[in-house]
Amino acid sequence: MLTKNFQILANNHQLIKNDGADVIQGLTQTPKSLPPKYFYDDRGSELFEQICELPEYYPTRTEAWILRQYANEIAQITGECELIELGSGSSTKTIFLLDAYQKIYTLFRYIPIDVSAGILKASVLKLQKKYSNLSIDALVGTYEQALAQLASTASPCRMIFFLGSSIGNFNQRDADVFLHQIADALNPGDYFLLGLDLQKPKDILEAAYNDNQGVTAAFNLNILSHLNWRFQGNFDLNSFNHQAIYNQADAQIEMYLHSHKSHWVSLEALDLKVFLESGEKILTEISRKFDLAIMQKELEIQGLKTVKIWTDPQEWFGLILCQA
Ligand code: AVI
Repeated sequence: MLTKNFQILANNHQLIKNDGADVIQGLTQTPKSLPPKYFYDDRGSELFEQICELPEYYPTRTEAWILRQYANEIAQITGECELIELGSGSSTKTIFLLDAYQKIYTLFRYIPIDVSAGILKASVLKLQKKYSNLSIDALVGTYEQALAQLASTASPCRMIFFLGSSIGNFNQRDADVFLHQIADALNPGDYFLLGLDLQKPKDILEAAYNDNQGVTAAFNLNILSHLNWRFQGNFDLNSFNHQAIYNQADAQIEMYLHSHKSHWVSLEALDLKVFLESGEKILTEISRKFDLAIMQKELEIQGLKTVKIWTDPQEWFGLILCQA
């Protein structure tokens, strides 16, 4: 049976807040863009799970390696505390942390937070079976909603963690706001564990976002199917190609949908008609790649002091543990 502690902070409509206004804004500006949150309908979440398994997509398995290697040390450093995961998804990598805390502490609490109630329910059921000494309080909501709720509740000690380098999908300004909200949700002495994809040669990065099987291309194009469904649109997926390039100057992967013909697209529910030139690109996602020393300074500005950093032997991915 599902835990009683399953709290819905937002319904589906509130989750995609300001429904459509961000799409109108993105498609009527130059260059055109779309908010990456529209990737994640059911099909998009499924495709993202497949991306994580791809041979070219090293971030998931590299971060998992670091967690497997160092989870015990993390648990020793933080001591007994509640574990709060932002964007927990299927909680696959979390298992390494839960295993480590289970070995040391008799009873502990895990708070997974995700916008997808379906994924969250499935993973809570799985974890309840595996860990008898774990109390789970799942929250369905956006990061903002969850962090605001956490900021208003007290706890003896907490560690918030944000894995997968998802912070890389925020631009610098949104990342600063996010880190500020994290700091607000922590009391002095609490911990924050952050997963970061690190800067590396262009060919490795571009291969990770242009896989041979075309899964990332399908994930990128799926944003258009989602918009067609959500806003009664008529995007023709055959008129677009997936493109992902590494912008070295800004240290970020940029993912585009490249229109290979001139055509009109309409989104009826938004009363929107947009003209796309042949060769015009829509930016669908940035994925920033980090420098550990710079990120340490950014965390410090928010009052989050680095306790320890772990990486893999190739230094492709990093985990920073910091303390408020
Ligand atoms: C979720 N996020 C960290 C992924 C990334 O690598 O930026 C999303 C992704 N987009 C294409 N492949 C993976």
